[in-house]
Amino acid sequence: MKKNNSIGIGVIGCGTVGSRFISHFKRKRASVREKTGIDFVLLKVADRNMGGKKGRHPSYTRDPEEVLSDENVDIVVELIGGMEPAYSFIKKAFSRGKSVVTANKALLSGKNRELFSLASNGGVHLGFEASVASAIPIVKTLRESFIGNNITKVMAILNGTTNYILTRMSLHGESFQEALEKAGSLGYAEANPTLDIEGLDTTHKLSILSCLAFNKTVSWKNIFTAGIRNLDAIDINFARDFGYRIKLLAIAKKFKENLELRVHPTFLPVGHLLANVEDVYNAVYMEGDMIGKSLMYGEGAGGSAAASAALADVVDIGIKLAGQKPAGSPLLYENEKIAICSMSDIRTKYYLRFTVPDRPGTLALITDILGKNGISIASVLQKEENRNYAVPVVIMTHVATEHSVQKAVREIDSLSIARLPTVLFRAEE
Ligand code: HSE
Repeated sequence: MKKNNSIGIGVIGCGTVGSRFISHFKRKRASVREKTGIDFVLLKVADRNMGGKKGRHPSYTRDPEEVLSDENVDIVVELIGGMEPAYSFIKKAFSRGKSVVTANKALLSGKNRELFSLASNGGVHLGFEASVASAIPIVKTLRESFIGNNITKVMAILNGTTNYILTRMSLHGESFQEALEKAGSLGYAEANPTLDIEGLDTTHKLSILSCLAFNKTVSWKNIFTAGIRNLDAIDINFARDFGYRIKLLAIAKKFKENLELRVHPTFLPVGHLLANVEDVYNAVYMEGDMIGKSLMYGEGAGGSAAASAALADVVDIGIKLAGQKPAGSPLLYENEKIAICSMSDIRTKYYLRFTVPDRPGTLALITDILGKNGISIASVLQKEENRNYAVPVVIMTHVATEHSVQKAVREIDSLSIARLPTVLFRAEE
């Protein structure tokens, strides 16, 4: 326990989030002291690109070891991201009795078990609120506020960049590339935006939520992931005609002891709450046996929102260090009974777009195959008319299993009428 109610902070990484964290930290220090009775003191900041004026300031350094070896640093704030050297820095901090606050979703989703046990064994704290949906306190909510619940469903928009791109394409008619460039210039995208648009950033975050909501650690590598890179404006327009919006969703559904986890562009009815989450906003919808349904909404990307979450973790841990011993991590309890569903067993509705000749009998060939695979059709749309060329024909199905839809699509794509491979989206309600 700290005797003098002063908590030393060291920061490693001074990029978009790190620089915002430091500037907000300095401005809020007095008000945090008033609210908590604790003086949080920024002792050291390390960044490999530290130069100019900052490089001459005594508390700034290029060497992270100076932060990790400073015995007055109680909490290390790691904001460099990626696997290494972040993982080594965090392990070193733990081994020296320091708590850690991080926004590093890639690391947490790859090394969740290791990090939670290292923190627990070392009797130190690990704060990671800033790793998922910055302006939504989802870690605290699942860990504390909803702890009594059996969570059965999570559907979430967890990536600001892709949601911004989808909004710009859908409501403003922009191209994918135009929207991506704008998202980058606004500071939303990852240093490597491939993580955003391939869906992997969302998958990292879903893996973290899975630990909290279901006590199940699942590496991001084992979660089905499809991003928005190949999304065609034609499908965004057809979605609108059918009364849907396309969103990149993280989906988790628990059925008794099976857990379905997936990330992909999803059709949502226009009236659905998540369909109306626009721009850089994130939202997390949850169902639990005590709460019923709950929806949280807030900014998901950008330096200040992430800095706000990291500051909250710093204060939370500081209060514990000043007043009480660390409690064991609830995340160490692993529910071994839960099995992860195979993607081929999921059941949902589908949007299928075929590119076929506009000739009598074409639709019959398609519906025959769908029927033989037990897939029931909810609606059909063909807008263009052209007897000489292939036209898009769109079918929305009722609920069907993934493996029967994939099988039917393979059969249809092998017919001579299939001029382009079928485009498939999954729909939720
Ligand atoms: N690139 C991320 C996003 C930043 O767009 O959501 C926050 O994790």
